[in-house]
This record gives sequence, structure tokens and C-alpha cells, in this order.
Amino acid sequence: MAHNLLPDDFKPLADHFFNGIRVPAVIPAASLDAVREMEVRDDDIWVVTYPKAGTTWAQEITSVIMEGGDLGKVKERPLLERVPYVELGPIDQIPATHKFVDAMPRDVPRLVRTHLPYDLMPKQWHEKKPKTLYVARNPKDTAISKWQFTKINHYIETVESFFDYLPKFIEGDVSYGSWFDHNLAFWQHRHEPHVLFVKFEDMKKDLKSQMIRIADFYGRPLPEDKIEECVEHCTFDKMKKNPMSNYSAAPFIDHKKGTFHRKGEVGDWMNHFTVSQNEIFNSLFEEKMRGSGLTFDFEL
Ligand code: A3P
Repeated sequence: MAHNLLPDDFKPLADHFFNGIRVPAVIPAASLDAVREMEVRDDDIWVVTYPKAGTTWAQEITSVIMEGGDLGKVKERPLLERVPYVELGPIDQIPATHKFVDAMPRDVPRLVRTHLPYDLMPKQWHEKKPKTLYVARNPKDTAISKWQFTKINHYIETVESFFDYLPKFIEGDVSYGSWFDHNLAFWQHRHEPHVLFVKFEDMKKDLKSQMIRIADFYGRPLPEDKIEECVEHCTFDKMKKNPMSNYSAAPFIDHKKGTFHRKGEVGDWMNHFTVSQNEIFNSLFEEKMRGSGLTFDFEL
């Protein structure tokens, strides 16, 4: 059942800057420092995204694959226990997750989720190169999803109007910095054998083939007779209803204002961008992405 642990008059604490990147107070500098120095294991699986790119979706998919498609096991524990958000906390009721990650058993691969930009990933991640799934989502839908999240996330200051939010997003003056910098850095490393770069829009187009692709990358192909139910389990409607993956009891969400699983669509930006915002964004996108080869579907 949904419940709020925070008092009604709770005000988000101020963001801070870490290596020039804006981060919410719920991601303290001490945790970011600890994660930078943490022990990374060779058999770790890292799920990395810019916020609102489909992180939760990728975590659930990863968990299902690594449990060999055993949905009974997947449903036993909340997602953040199965694939912890390593740089989170400590703050309020949220303990320092990196300590939990350090203490995870060694007999099975750890599944770890982060939003850290490439350069701020743990030192040992750069050295040991564990398998890493990077999920990217087109920046217009990401911006809308991120803006909408400011309205339901207790720890982020609410921005009521997209008119006010878009300039911040464009400047990278939002949590975890610039969408462009984050995505382009991982894109440049997409050919390294330990990195798999997957797009949200491709998962929407054909979830089954992307899950098979991800499972092959992890070296854990899903059993043929379980694929269909695993794909179904990871659809938007199923995840929205699943209390182990929908954050319906999470203290960071103001459940009176909305649900974590909002729309899960490609193209919702069209309901919010004005014609002139879209023109400005398109020319910026073209300028920033020129020569990179990174393209996105903005509608399906
Ligand atoms: P919307 O706000 O557009 O609905 P993250 O997990 O990185 O915070 O991303 C959240 C976004 O992913 C939200 O987008 C959420 O609805 C969407 N999402 C989560 N699970 C999904 C799924 N199974 N299929 C499609 N979208 C999903």
C-alpha cells in the first residue's frame, strides 16, 4: 500500500554540485566519493542511465535475465534490493546504498544501478570493465519525464512549468547534468565489449528482441519456454501494477500526486513542447550531436 514517510510540510533539501554536476541532496558528496573508490567486481553487471531514460525498466529486465527467467524469484524482493541505486543516501530514512552494495554476496553477480556520468564512474569500473548496460532515451521525452518527476519526487524541487524547466534541461542545470554529455560519453564507448548501448525507443518497438539482445550480452540467454512470460512481465502495464517494481511504497514519491509509472511512451513530448521550443531544441540537438552518429526515434 502506498504511504508517505515524510511529514506533509517536508521541503526538498538544496541540490549541490559534484565535479560541476548538479545532484540532489539525496545523493550526498560522501556517497559519490565512496562510490568512486568502491571495489568493483569482475562479474558485476552495471545498469547505467541518464535519469528518466528507462532505468527501472532496464533494472527489471536485468533482474529477470539474471534470475534465468524465474519470475517467482524476481517477485520476492523489491527492485532496489535486487538492483540497488549505488550512490543513493544516506539521508532521511534512506541508508547509504553503497554499503549495502559492498556487502552483497559474492557467489552471484551483483546487479548495480547508477546515473553517474562516464567520467565519475568508479575508478575500478574503468579498470575492470564489468558488463554494463547503458539505456538511452530521446532527449525530448526524457526532458518531459524528468520535469514531470519534479512534481512527484519529494527530494527534487518542483518545477511547475515546462517553460521554466526546458532551459535548465538544455543547459544541463538539472540532476546529473547535461543529457548530451552523459549520452555522448557512453556512446563513444559503445563498441567496447563490456558496454551494450540500448535505446528506450527500440525496447518500445520490440521488447522481446531487445531482451534477447541484452540476455545474450550478459551471457545468460533466457530459456526458450520462458521468454514470452518474461517479456510480458517487463511491459509497462505489468510493471506499473507490480508492487516489487512500481515504487508504490517508496518514501521518495508523493503518492498523492502521481505514480512512478506515468505513461512510458515515445512521443509524449509532442503534448508539451511548443512549436518554437521544438525548433530551438532541434537546432541544438543537431549542433550537439553532429558527427556522433547517435540518432533517436522521437515518435513511433
Ligand atoms: P514517463 O515519465 O515518460 O512515463 P527511470 O526509470 O529512468 O526513472 O525512467 C522512468 C520512465 O520510464 C517513465 O517514463 C516510466 O513510465 C518509464 N517506464 C518504466 N517502466 C517502463 C516500461 N516497462 N515500459 C515503458 N516505459 C517504462
